[in-house]
Amino acid sequence: MRRAFVASGWMMSLLAATASGAAPVCAPGTAEMPSMFLPRSEPAEIILDITWLIIGICAVIFIVMEGLIVWAIIRYRKKRSESEGGEPPQVYGSNPVELAWTVIPLLIVFVLFLVSARGIFEIDKQEPPPGSLEVTVVGHRWWWEFDYGDLGFVTANELHIPLTKDGEPQSVYLMLESADVIHSFWVPQLAGKMDVVPGRINHLWLQPSRAGKYIGQCAEYCGNQHANMLITVYVHTEEEFARWVENQQKEAVEDAAVAEGRDLFMSTACINCHTIRGTVADGTFAPDLTHLMSRSVLGAGAAANTPDRLREWVWDPQNIKPGCDMPSMKLSREETDRICDYLETLK
Ligand code: CUA
Repeated sequence: MRRAFVASGWMMSLLAATASGAAPVCAPGTAEMPSMFLPRSEPAEIILDITWLIIGICAVIFIVMEGLIVWAIIRYRKKRSESEGGEPPQVYGSNPVELAWTVIPLLIVFVLFLVSARGIFEIDKQEPPPGSLEVTVVGHRWWWEFDYGDLGFVTANELHIPLTKDGEPQSVYLMLESADVIHSFWVPQLAGKMDVVPGRINHLWLQPSRAGKYIGQCAEYCGNQHANMLITVYVHTEEEFARWVENQQKEAVEDAAVAEGRDLFMSTACINCHTIRGTVADGTFAPDLTHLMSRSVLGAGAAANTPDRLREWVWDPQNIKPGCDMPSMKLSREETDRICDYLETLK
């Protein structure tokens, strides 16, 4: 699947091999370094090919220019006597020299322009490719909403997608919108950056070539919790993905053992912002909690989703993520525990 530019030559192949050789070996569930030099999706591969070509051209220019400078320093480091050939001849107004240093850079810039333009057109798809999974991504201050449309569920901060089958054009097609300010969706191993702009829909497609966990981050400053806008992408095999979808489509678990916590939750203002499908909670300002326990982080990466951190979060989110929209509900410790007991059943 990985294509290489013929022009990129042996040097870039060597550098690419070195870069992929340096890839950390990861246990399942842990992510590789989120580096654009470890592409795991078609658009990211296209971008890396262009990057190597540009680095290669710049390296050749650097070596030639520095070589000439060093040569001139050594060759003319002291005044030469008449018997050594005297001063180097000075050249004024030479048409061939002027032409050379105008035309050569022009040609280089033109080649870079063509290669970049080709890459941009290849990556820019305004229509979803046939058979794509379509997901609407909404950037919020400061979390991500993933709406799976026809599949009938919404989740937050963790995007689950299927692996592209070999030789098939099927991909994941993202439609990016913002609920407030400009954000930028960036998962370096899967695709380039794409701005998420209020009032318009931008597009991005992914064609993941390896199952695993990939880390991304909002890449446009969007306020004081900009750094806590983590994106985690899980690329699953087809069967795994089908299982995940099946679970997400279910309504929230009803567990009589935590009825007290559920009733408490349903009697607070929590339900104005959060949805828990199958209950009266149907707010849309905040993350859907129907399957909260299928996620590994809270507050878009501000804390791990562990029982202790969940209690701290519900007690007062402002301690963990100052400035976020969720206020402390002024619950007692006892009430916080009951509500968290309930939330922990939402698998
Ligand atoms: Cu959203 Cu930075």
